[in-house]
Amino acid sequence: MIYELTNPLTKTLITHLRDQKSDAVRFRHIVAELTKQLLYEALKNASLVKKEILTWRGKGSFESIDEENIIVTTVLRAGLPMLESAMNTLPNAVGGFLAMKRDEVTHKSVLYYDRLPECKGKTIILVDPMVATGGSMVDAIELIKNREPLKIVTLNIIGSPEGLSVVSSKYPDIDIYIAQIDEKLNDDKFIIPGLGDAGDRAYNTL
Ligand code: PRP
Repeated sequence: MIYELTNPLTKTLITHLRDQKSDAVRFRHIVAELTKQLLYEALKNASLVKKEILTWRGKGSFESIDEENIIVTTVLRAGLPMLESAMNTLPNAVGGFLAMKRDEVTHKSVLYYDRLPECKGKTIILVDPMVATGGSMVDAIELIKNREPLKIVTLNIIGSPEGLSVVSSKYPDIDIYIAQIDEKLNDDKFIIPGLGDAGDRAYNTL
């Protein structure tokens, strides 16, 4: 399923992201804020476990999301501010990092950095700000699925209808939480109206 956020605050932050006056610091900050909104939505029905903690009155058992069984994962690099934000909200979650590039001849994606921890039985929260053609998400999901996680959910900031349909038709079992579904992809595979290249905007590589 694809879940698009509808809160007016989300729209407002997306407009700030589109605004070229938002510099890299502001851009990363807004991405982080939107990630928290997506995370709240994605975990709305998460089950709770009892955790024993030391309170001001001694030991006690209290409800919590089972953070240790969550792996927040990103494919370098534009998803880094999202990963930071999600892990600041879930401080006991585990971080996973992948890097892939497209082979210019075969057009297949090649994994060249893999610091994804053991995924078997875990919930993977895959974060990436943009779903343009959907190719990157499909590649990342395929790789993660091979590691037998319990489930995968994705958090995305902005996407094209075309790219989202590629991902959701290939992986109908995966829940996609997205802040904004834009109008279309253009011939150069950019999201329209979009916000430019999220990695470049976040890290001043324009
Ligand atoms: C961007 C973005 C997605 C991908 C989306 O990454 O972060 O991963 O493009 O495009 P797609 O849906 O057509 O695959 P990019 O490859 O620009 O790398 P970056 O994160 O280093 O900027």
